[in-house]
Amino acid sequence: MSSPRKLTPQEEARLAQVRANFQERRKVSESLEGIGVRVGVYSGKGGVGKTTVATNLAVTLALQENDVALFDCDIDCPNVTRVLRISEGPIQNGEKLVPPSRFGVKVMSMAFFQDNEDEAIVWRGPMIHNAINQFLHSTEWGDPDYMVVDLPPGTSDAPLTVMQTLNLDGFVIVTTPHELAVLDAKRSINMIKKMNLKVFGIVENLSGGVFGTGGGKALAEEMELPFLGALTMSAEYTNSQRPASLESDEVAAEFKVITDNLKSQIEAG
Ligand SMILES: Nc1ncnc2c1ncn2[C@@H]1O[C@H](COP(=O)(O)OP(=O)(O)OP(=O)(O)O)[C@@H](O)[C@H]1O
Ligand SMILES: [Mg+2]
Repeated sequence: MSSPRKLTPQEEARLAQVRANFQERRKVSESLEGIGVRVGVYSGKGGVGKTTVATNLAVTLALQENDVALFDCDIDCPNVTRVLRISEGPIQNGEKLVPPSRFGVKVMSMAFFQDNEDEAIVWRGPMIHNAINQFLHSTEWGDPDYMVVDLPPGTSDAPLTVMQTLNLDGFVIVTTPHELAVLDAKRSINMIKKMNLKVFGIVENLSGGVFGTGGGKALAEEMELPFLGALTMSAEYTNSQRPASLESDEVAAEFKVITDNLKSQIEAG
């Protein structure tokens, strides 16, 4: 039998790359293995309320005695720390980062690694991929029942990379009743379906008022998806020092409906 031929330098390099990728993926999945359900909160259009829904959903789940992690994955514009008024970042523990907790929720955000809150972070595809991987495997997540992920809007590189890297179990789509937001929501649902990922359901934010109501529900019917619930406009979102669902009984009731419907969808599998 002939002895195996020596690999060329190119082949050696390629093999090293494959090994490194494999190890990276294994480290990420090891770090995430204790996490129960991973829910992405997403919309086609910016500013419709993803961060609002993600934070209040996480807080509501935590109030129901769940162990919850919130991952702010909006790498260009991380907002969760502002909404939750977190100033202290993660604590280094050996090679791991222990995320701070607020209102019963463990929070990890790209904002912790930003020197200046007003600074824009511009990431390109491979950098996003690396940053997220690094983030995911260096965080000591523990074993939360839920991980809620606040995603960046739109169908550009950033949300796509994040979705693929994170291996999410499903998505909550946020829209407003406005027809343009509904159209964008439809596009994002189609994108998720194309990636063979699951949509848990649709939330209509800023329901009522000038944009009317029902756009989210109509979209849910059209796309044959569950409608999880509606959120009306409330001053509590802007005024309070705490998430609106902890400040207002009405907001809390709206989030309870959404959370319960989401849980039924998760259980239904
Ligand atoms: N139901 C509501 N009532 C009143 N204000 C709201 C409501 N929902 C969201 N807001 C406010 O609207 C603004 C945008 O919401 P939010 O940051 O959650 O949107 P987003 O989809 O995460 O935006 P981005 O795409 O920039 O990440 C925030 O100032 C938030 O407080
Ligand atoms: Mg946001």
